[in-house]
Amino acid sequence: DRLFESCGGRFGRIWVVGGWYGVLPAMLFNDSRFDIAAVDSIDIDPEVAPVARTLNREAGDLFRALTADMYALDYAAGRPDLIVNTSCEHIADLRAWLALLPLGTTVLLQSNDYFSEPTH
Ligand SMILES: C[S@@+](CC[C@H](N)C(=O)[O-])C[C@H]1O[C@@H](n2cnc3c(N)ncnc32)[C@H](O)[C@@H]1O
Repeated sequence: DRLFESCGGRFGRIWVVGGWYGVLPAMLFNDSRFDIAAVDSIDIDPEVAPVARTLNREAGDLFRALTADMYALDYAAGRPDLIVNTSCEHIADLRAWLALLPLGTTVLLQSNDYFSEPTH
């Protein structure tokens, strides 16, 4: 809802980093307010990609689940229209990660308030 309010619903390529099981892309593809050309869900854990592909099966070629470290991505070369980080509670230094993004990049940040989890 906040994304739509701030940026509208039309996007070219979206990168979701720390994308886990690909729930957000599935929600976006099923939300009629959004018209999205492609979503890449990128996660460091190779075990999550098959689940993300299953969840987003109906999106066909519009969806890719990729295995990579969000710190190692070339954001300038990829030039996604929107970068979503759905794992901010796993990022030790969020400002250092944001510094990797080209100036002017549109970014959406998600985190949670599960403070009792020691890895957060
Ligand atoms: C559990 S999910 C995030 C949950 C979500 N924020 C929520 O509120 O429920 C965290 C994901 O971040 C991924 N992750 C952690 N560090 C990463 C990194 N450096 N690059 C890419 N993915 C990473 C993990 O593999 C995991 O799938």
